[in-house]
Amino acid sequence: MTRPFRQKHLLGIEALEPSDIQQILDTGEAFFEVSRRPVRKVPTLRGKTILNVFYEASTRTRTSFELAGKRLSADVVNISSSGSSVTKGETLLDTVKNLQAMRPDVVVLRHQASGAPHFVAARTGISVINAGDGAHEHPTQALLDAFTIRRSKGHIRGLVVAICGDVMHSRVARSNALLLGMLGATVRFAAPRTLTPRGVEVFGTEVYDRLEPALEGADVVMMLRVQTERLGGAMFPTNREYSRIFGLSPRTLRYAKPDAIVMHPGPMNRGVEIDPAVADGTRSVILDQVEAGVAVRMAILYLLAGEAGAHPVAAA
Ligand code: CP
Repeated sequence: MTRPFRQKHLLGIEALEPSDIQQILDTGEAFFEVSRRPVRKVPTLRGKTILNVFYEASTRTRTSFELAGKRLSADVVNISSSGSSVTKGETLLDTVKNLQAMRPDVVVLRHQASGAPHFVAARTGISVINAGDGAHEHPTQALLDAFTIRRSKGHIRGLVVAICGDVMHSRVARSNALLLGMLGATVRFAAPRTLTPRGVEVFGTEVYDRLEPALEGADVVMMLRVQTERLGGAMFPTNREYSRIFGLSPRTLRYAKPDAIVMHPGPMNRGVEIDPAVADGTRSVILDQVEAGVAVRMAILYLLAGEAGAHPVAAA
């Protein structure tokens, strides 16, 4: 008998207990195995409906949620703001209330406003999964990152994880700092001063304004995308200058442990925050992160929408 999940929504790491995280990661292992079978489908969510509602662009998150739902045999519908009545001025709440009238079981929401998934969860009866809200949180990314680290290193407790780059605008950095800290890792943020958020101390991380000392002795190096679309010109030098000071290259990677792994949530700015030789090198687990994304999102959908007590991968 599978233990029931304590949560109705997945809005952020902040709301989770370490036991919830362990349950998601452990359940993800079963679905990782399913995703490597010749037939990558189980009947677990047959008859359930999942709506992927994306107000911002996405490749990895949206595709992996769609694949996750389909591999669980759910009906999956994708809605993007550009092709919907949002372009005619319909509000988020009206949009979601209309979608609710079609009786979905789960809404996966990406939105440019911090707190949008919480707003929807508080005003509808649907289970809501946060697929990234503004610069606030990206909890499923942090969960798939933890899953990837655990598979690569065998554990998380005691590891030193350096999260480097545009911390200011990164929901991935926030969710990872909360999650990895909760599971016993030492988390370091490294960012130029202009890209370090005020009040960063609340995350309990070590904070560096240079890359090399942050990488010293790190087990995991997680590079962040420079979010050029959110930058004021005053905050940023040229790409070339940034790459020289804060880019992960074969030279700067030497500061980390010899067996350190390299991560990036994507999309990458090759040649800016990460040198292609590192992104495509033997220590990169960037595509492992993408593979893990499907399994972990299958686990989350199953835990939120599956029938109580149902086995995750039981045959039809
Ligand atoms: N990591 C991530 O969220 O990628 P997408 O924006 O492509 O979904």
